[in-house]
Order: sequence, then structure tokens, then C-alpha cells
Amino acid sequence: MKSLVILISGRGSNMQALMEANLPARIAAVISNKPEAAGLDIARRRGYETIVLDQRSYAGREVFDQKLAEVIDAYAPDLVALAGFMRLLGDSFVSRYEGRLINIHPSLLPAFPGLHPHRQALKEGVKVHGCTVHFVTAETDRGPIIIQAAVQVIPSDTEETLAARVLQQEHRIYPEAVRWFMEDRLKLSDNSVEVSDADFDDSILYSPGLSK
Ligand code: GRF
Repeated sequence: MKSLVILISGRGSNMQALMEANLPARIAAVISNKPEAAGLDIARRRGYETIVLDQRSYAGREVFDQKLAEVIDAYAPDLVALAGFMRLLGDSFVSRYEGRLINIHPSLLPAFPGLHPHRQALKEGVKVHGCTVHFVTAETDRGPIIIQAAVQVIPSDTEETLAARVLQQEHRIYPEAVRWFMEDRLKLSDNSVEVSDADFDDSILYSPGLSK
């Protein structure tokens, strides 16, 4: 059976969604760069192997990335999934895992990369926001897009209400992307990902809705 390693830094709700999705893959380990990450307890309670690599104990990015790669490689995973992993990874780490390192970001990339995407979305007054699962490349929050989900932005939204609605969609699309990867249904060419046998319908999201 194929396997994956999940990298977290905090709450771990996307990690949990992956655990609950009955994926055709084994979660070999959960690694956190923060000892206090709440997701570690969730993983431990569920009986998963957890490893903490406290970034403060390493003398810089290169050394940390090297150690992280050693720990990951001991599990020989097919896929490494970043799930709220809040640390930038260096170019050599990213190229080592090219094509088998994915991330979830709470915006419709390439809009609003980096920190506080919901705040950025509200500030820009966008009517549609959402989340993206993508292959990781050297540039932060860029890379070939596997799946996105959109949510409407409504006038009463705050950062918190918008984040909560986007998070629900994150929990839908991340397991989907991992499933496709494990089923060998993703074909990556240049900057584009083709998903074989994906469903399409012709529904179009308008926001705000069109008046009758
Ligand atoms: C999620 O919104 C994820 O997209 C972003 O950080 C947040 C992590 O949440 N990269 P959780 O730890 O998965 O609950």
C-alpha cells in the first residue's frame, strides 16, 4: 500500500480530514516543527506515529531541511502533504520531493499567497474566495494546481466567518487530491495538472447571485 507523511505546525484539522477520509494509503507519520502543535495530540490519540523537529534546535534552514528530509526518507513515503505547515522550505528540499510534495492554501491561488489570505481577500473586496491544493515548487504558494473550491464572500463576513467556510471546503478537497495522487490519476505537465476521470458539471458560481 502507498503511504504518506503529513507535516503540520498547528491545529491539524486538515491532517484530521486526511485521517478520516479512508484513503487508499497509509499515513506513515505526522511530523511537526512545533512541539506545541495541537494536531500532535490528535494524531497520537489516533495511534499515529508522531515526530517533533523543533525548528529552534536547528542552526538555520539548511540544517533543519536536511534533518527533516532524513526523517521523512526513513518512511520512504510516496507523498508528503503539508497541512498547515508554517515554515518555508528551501529550494533543495523542494526539488528533492518534486512531484510528490503537496500543500493546501486557503485562497484561490495565485491570488493571496502568503499570510492572512482571508484578510487580503476581504480587503480587496473579492466576491469569490476559496482554497487550493497544489504541488509545491520553489516559489511560496505557487505550483501546479490540483483542485480548488470556491466560496461566496458575503457582506457580513469577517476574517473568522470566511475562514470557517473556506476550511469546510479545505476538508473536502485535500482528501480528494490525495486520493487522486494515490490512484495515479494526476498527470503533471509543465504547470498544469490533468486529473483523469474527474467529474465536471456545468454549474457556475455567481457571487452575489444574479437577480431574477
Ligand atoms: C489551513 O487553513 C491551511 O490551508 C493553512 O493553514 C491552516 C491550517 O489549519 N495552510 P489546520 O492546522 O489544518 O487546522
